[in-house]
Amino acid sequence: MITPDTIEKIMDAARIEEVVGEFVSLKRRGVNMIGLCPFHNEKTPSFSVSAPKGIYKCFGCGKGGNAVNFLMEHEHYTYPEALRYLAQKYNIEIEEEKPSPEQQQAMDLKESLFNVSAFAQKFFEEQLHDSEEGRSIALTYLKERGFTTEVIRRFGLGYCPGAWDSFTQTALKNGYKKEYLLKTSLSKSKDQMLYDTFRDRIIFPIHNLSGRVLGFGGRILTNEKNRPKYINSAESDIYQKSKVLYGIYFAKSQMVSLDNCYLVEGYTDVIALHQAGITNVIATSGTALTTDQIKLIRRYTSNVTLLFDGDPAGIKAAFRGLDLILEEGLNVRVVLFPDGEDPDSFAREKRPAEVRSFVEEQAADFISFKTTLLLEETRDDPIRKAQLIKEIAQTIALIPEPIARTIYVQKCSTMMGVEEQLMVSEVNRIRREKFKRKHQPETAKDEDMIPVPGDRRTSPQKQEYEETNHRPEQEIIRLLLNHGAKEITFEVENEDKRMVEVAVTVAEFILQDIHSDDLMLDNVICQNILNEYAGWWEQKKLPAHSIFTQHQDEDVRKLAIDLLSSQYTLSKNWEQRHKIYLKDEEDELKPRVLYAVYAFKLQKLEKMLAEIQQKIRDMSRQIPADEEMLLELMKTQRDLLEKRRAFARELDRVVTR
Ligand code: UTP
Ligand code: MN
Repeated sequence: MITPDTIEKIMDAARIEEVVGEFVSLKRRGVNMIGLCPFHNEKTPSFSVSAPKGIYKCFGCGKGGNAVNFLMEHEHYTYPEALRYLAQKYNIEIEEEKPSPEQQQAMDLKESLFNVSAFAQKFFEEQLHDSEEGRSIALTYLKERGFTTEVIRRFGLGYCPGAWDSFTQTALKNGYKKEYLLKTSLSKSKDQMLYDTFRDRIIFPIHNLSGRVLGFGGRILTNEKNRPKYINSAESDIYQKSKVLYGIYFAKSQMVSLDNCYLVEGYTDVIALHQAGITNVIATSGTALTTDQIKLIRRYTSNVTLLFDGDPAGIKAAFRGLDLILEEGLNVRVVLFPDGEDPDSFAREKRPAEVRSFVEEQAADFISFKTTLLLEETRDDPIRKAQLIKEIAQTIALIPEPIARTIYVQKCSTMMGVEEQLMVSEVNRIRREKFKRKHQPETAKDEDMIPVPGDRRTSPQKQEYEETNHRPEQEIIRLLLNHGAKEITFEVENEDKRMVEVAVTVAEFILQDIHSDDLMLDNVICQNILNEYAGWWEQKKLPAHSIFTQHQDEDVRKLAIDLLSSQYTLSKNWEQRHKIYLKDEEDELKPRVLYAVYAFKLQKLEKMLAEIQQKIRDMSRQIPADEEMLLELMKTQRDLLEKRRAFARELDRVVTR
């Protein structure tokens, strides 16, 4: 292994313009160099190289990265190969170190487990499509269930033959060690003999985020009651079921572009919905949802729609999942399928368009869902009703944002016909207790103005809206990455009532300002970058550009590269839209930073306002209207408007200063 020291030397020495320059003819334009993109066909150059930042970026095809990425992409080098190439070019002696025996072992072990899993997946898939047994038993079964060859192939489904050890024997013959077969639980041993764990089952491979197989689910082909319907891989060094979501590899890009995901229970539900054209779908695979899984979802979207079976077990699972998701600050909706139906069986009976409109139309916000269901149970029993209020208050109390809580309290008290004040004090009581337990008095300020992410659903208009509306967030991150260490100055009054100048860094200003208002960026990737930056900041360090441009999270990497290379593009749009023209970025850092931060806050306020106003419209259409609640909403609206005016004034000051 190349030592981290050597890697650092190589990265320091590598001049992006020289590395790229060997393959692309570059011309200087301003601080950047431009040329024809080597990754796609073009006649006018949109490929740009920034020497100071050590990165390249094509504005045509979107490819971008550092010197190593370029070599990997252009020359198809592996990571170590690219490093060696650069070391040679810059005369750097490569120091190699053996990873510690434990490191090496851990790496080898994982890699071996991945390898044997990949081999198994191929074997099972071949058996399904190409063996007599697989075709006649398993493929027929899948076809009878209505799955198309295309979707069977996409998910890499397979079949493990019924013989005692046909997979195990093939794997051993191909040089895969017994140890790894056992560690992946692909094989089991009995009386010194190895046999196939999944024999006579349909195989559902489980993929990680980058598409590598890390485990399997195996379904029997019959309706036998005395054998488990599914067998799943045991936990291993590569497979931890609490951190994996079935289908996420196939769903993640749509989760981002639709800004929503459907969460189902089973393998077949995921596949059936894909076939019906719903591809932003993932499954917990029969186990209870975990916080790790929700965090995984949040990397791609903050909107989750639970699709559950309408039977008592399904409802219970939905309730549990719902609380957990709310607690993590995501928005959640629920669709219950008719009793006895799951998404898969439903999709089998209906046409794809019907399935799609069903889930869209049935999706209920969680409070209506929970209240309606529980209300049915309680009828007019006052004691049960009191319990119910407590139960729902528990759920509402989990929501991190105060305004969202307020809205749900209002909605719920109307639905249940109880005094709003009663709900409010119940929710507050629960929160106070919770915070006492957690010793976090600072988060317990219920009246804080914290924006509500609200119930943002998907539509083309919305997507466009989001695009423009993430801009202040991106602008904030862009300024942070590009200018975090630079100083801006403010005039403040000191103890002797004299005005003095103090300097703070851009990073300090942004982090503290956003933090002090407890605001979250809506764009997860931006928020991730902000968090990570803050982490460095707390240790009194400034993260290098490469922390983000070489980040292991692809989304972070891409955005960072975009933001570091698009110095002017973003703000150009901005300036035009807001009719402001700023001079060179460096000289006008302070107004830019202030502008970005205020615009971000203003936008948050506007979202809240829009929601309240919608609320008021809905309310006033109700007959008889709930006058008191209306008044309450109008008051909230007034407060928000006032805040907005204040912000707008500050923004104005920045711009017209
Ligand atoms: P279901 O019983 O709803 O199965 O369990 P399913 O997905 O609808 O499968 P079909 O349609 O009957 O073929 C939901 C999920 O729970 C897990 C599996 O991940 C399954 O997809 N499960 C279920 C198990 O792990 N083991 C079992 O014995 C049953
Ligand atoms: Mn099913």
